[in-house]
Formats: sequence, C-alpha cells, structure tokens
Amino acid sequence: MANNQAATTYGHGKGIGATVGIALLGMGTVGAEVFRLINENANDFEQRIGGPVAVRGIAVSDTSKERPGVPAELLTTDAHALINRDDVDVVVEVIGGIDYPRELVLAALRAGKSVVTANKALVAAHADELAAAANAAGVDLFFEAAVAAAIPVVGMLRRSLAGDKIQRISGIVNGTTNFILDAMETTGASYEDALAEATRLGYAEADPTADVEGHDAASKAAILASLGFYTRVTFDDVHCEGISKITAEDIEAADRAGYSIKLLAICERLTAADGTESVNARVHPTLVPKDHPLASVNKSYNAIFVEAEAAGSLMFYGNGAGGNPTASAVLGDLVGASRNKVHGGRAPEDNTYAHLPIASFGEVETRYHIDMEVADRTGVLAAISNVFAEFGVSLRTVRQEDRGETARLIVVTHAARESVLADIVEHLSGLDDVHAVNSVIRLDN
Ligand code: NDP
Ligand code: HSE
Repeated sequence: MANNQAATTYGHGKGIGATVGIALLGMGTVGAEVFRLINENANDFEQRIGGPVAVRGIAVSDTSKERPGVPAELLTTDAHALINRDDVDVVVEVIGGIDYPRELVLAALRAGKSVVTANKALVAAHADELAAAANAAGVDLFFEAAVAAAIPVVGMLRRSLAGDKIQRISGIVNGTTNFILDAMETTGASYEDALAEATRLGYAEADPTADVEGHDAASKAAILASLGFYTRVTFDDVHCEGISKITAEDIEAADRAGYSIKLLAICERLTAADGTESVNARVHPTLVPKDHPLASVNKSYNAIFVEAEAAGSLMFYGNGAGGNPTASAVLGDLVGASRNKVHGGRAPEDNTYAHLPIASFGEVETRYHIDMEVADRTGVLAAISNVFAEFGVSLRTVRQEDRGETARLIVVTHAARESVLADIVEHLSGLDDVHAVNSVIRLDN
C-alpha cells in the first residue's frame, strides 16, 4: 500500500490502496516492454498511483508463442472476455490496426474501463466516436504513445500549452522513414535493406506500407492538429505523400545542393487576408538545409517544432519508435489513468471548440525543387522559364547537368501555391523538350 498518499479520495475513486486491474491487449514489440516494465517497476508505480497495479490478462493472437517471463495463465485470445472482467479497470490497447481495436476500445469504454492506446491509426480515424464513448462513461482515453513514441508531445499540447495559441506544429514523426532516409543518405544503403532493418528493429508498423506511404505520419499529424488547433482533424483531412518514390538519385542531388530529404508532417494555422482562419495538415518529403536542426535528426529519432504565440518556438527531440520508448509513453498514461481510478476524477476531454475549417492542400504555399530531364538545346531554358513566368512564379535557382543528348535541369522556385505548382508541372510535362519531370520535392518555408 502506498504510504505517502493523503487518506482522502474524491469523485468515485476506488480508494487509496485499492488494486488497479489492467488488461493488456497485445504482446508484440510494445506490449512485451509494457509488461516487463510494469513488473520491474511495480513498487514505484504503487507509490505514484496510490495502489498496486495487477495485470489480469494479456490478449494475443497466438497463445502458443514463446514469451519468456510471461506466465502462460495470463494469455488469452478472448480479448472481449478479458476486457469485461470485473477486476479490470484500465485497458491498454497495443494490438494495432483499426477495425478490431476500435471494437475492443469502444467495448472497454462502454464498460467503464479507462483506455490507454498507442494506436494512432485508430485515434486519427475515430477520435470523435472514441471521445464520445469515454465522455459518456466518464473514463479516460489516453494516447500519448500514438505520436512520436517517447516524446511527450500530446501531454505538452493538452496541458503545458493549453494557455497559448499555436500557429504551427511541424517535424519528423515517423521513425521508420527517418531511419530509411538517413541510411540511404549516410551509408548509401538501399531503400529495401534500410526498410528491412527498420522492421527488424521493431520500428515499422505490422504493414510497413503505413510508414513508407506516409499514412502513419498523417495519422500523427491529424492528432497533433486536432490538439493544437482545438479542431477535429482526421486522417482523411491530411494530404499525404510518402517516401517510396524517393530515389538514391534524389538524395544525391539534394546532398549536392546542401539539403537532406526528410519526411515532414506540417500542421499550420492559415490566416486569409480578411482574417479568416483555417487549418491545414500535410505529410510529404521535404528538403531541409543541412545546417537546420532537423537535418541532424538521424536513425529512428523524431523531432517536433511547435510555434506558439506567447511561447515562441519550441523543439522536442527523442526516440520516436521502438518497444522501450513507446512503453515509456504507454506507462505514463497508465499511471495517469490508474491514479484517476484510485483517487477519482478523470482528465478533461479533448476540446474541439474552435471548429476551424480545413484548408485544402492547394491553398498551401511553399517552395519547390523540381528535377527534370530535358533536351539539351538552345531555347529550352527560356521555354521552361516562360511556363513559370506565365503562372507568376519566380525562380530562385536553376542548375543544369549535361548528359549528352539530354540535360538534367534542377529548378528551385520561390513560394507558390500548391494548386499553381500542379498546373505548372502539367504544362512542363506537355512541352516537347521536357522528357520527364523526375521529382517535385518541397522545401519547408
Ligand atoms: P506488433 O505487431 O509487434 O504486436 C501486435 C500484438 O498484437 C501481438 O502481440 C499480437 O499477438 C497481438 N494481436 C494481433 N492481432 C490480435 C488479435 N486479433 N487479438 C489479440 N491480439 C492480437 O505491434 P507493435 O507492438 O509494434 O505495435 C502495437 C501498436 O503500437 C500499434 O498500434 C502501433 O502503431 C503502435 N506503436 C508502435 C510503435 C513501435 O515502435 N512499434 C511506436 C508507437 C506506437 P501475437 O503476439 O500472438 O502475434
Ligand atoms: N511505425 C512507427 C514509426 C512507430 O516508425 O514511427 C512509432 O509510431
């Protein structure tokens, strides 16, 4: 029994010293570390919570797998039965996916159990439904681990910056793609080998398409934008481009021009000339100058910049993937939810009072690095420049590399709208002398 707690409770807490029952759903990369750390730190958790925690059961898909240190009697394939046990107070969901965990998390919330989840895909797709169920039952729904694993960015937005006005949240929020891009740039590793290594190290999602196509980062962007702008932003609202089309040649060209390519999530408050506000969230490969702090974020590390009216610029950096770092965030939430079960009360719900409209991607302004294969002939450069001029976009730099009959032309523009850029690319592709627009990579403003 915790001995440093006042002998008072409030709300409908179980009371100081009561045991908090945990149902652990999932025992993979994250779940195994959560279980290990609950056992290793049981005494500290008891002191911090006000009562002991006890894992009542662990739901997995295959109970016959080797799981050293895990008592076989805790394992079950019947997650619903485990959730519904009377002695379960908090459900930790670390299975992944959307439909099945949605069913489980809703069942848990409706049964009055608080939920801790690391599942960004679920939260970004169904936040309103889950929040409504948590509110109706008066229980907690926590998801710190869903964004940037160990970096406490959700708590920072929910609590620490709750008195400020956030203008922009941007950064690297996917460890797998950062690992791949870093390996391709620094060791010349192939995309395939780097992805295989990120998977082996436990960074990638069960289906790594979610990582490399930017979906995982888009879910995280949706969560960050919702919290930062007090507006519900879902996965479908986020413009999303991954890294699967980034070639070794793109990385080399960026390197020679003094840039690293990073997959950035960018969430922005946009203000129109008449003062009307909207929000935009997007994920895409981005050129970052080598001397920018984001360029030195390597391996599976994440880094997030927050620009707030009063606080100014803040940067958060740390482990963005992997069992242990993710377990840290899950356990922070578990301690919080368990404390509330013991002492009573619950954390305030996510507030989306601002209801800002979602700006389309076409309205976003940025700069572009456009890599083209063109005919090596007099007048080609003029024809290409004319296309940009027709659309009112000025060029910042133009670089040409001869390749015999053809030339590689790399153009960097000044800021232009995405919708205008799309028109320009269409026109360039229609020119006889432009053989291919190899890539368009954005430069962060
Ligand atoms: P894993 O694939 O390693 O583990 C998934 C676990 O879920 C396994 O134990 C598996 O059982 C179990 N499971 C799968 N299907 C079922 C089912 N139908 N019923 C019961 N159990 C089932 O995933 P991770 O641990 O990597 O990720 C879990 C969650 O955490 C995901 O939402 C992920 O996005 C998130 N996350 C992951 C991070 C990471 O770095 N890995 C970081 C941050 C968040 P079995 O063991 O029998 O196969
Ligand atoms: N697959 C995710 C990543 C795990 O690589 O960032 C952490 O959310």
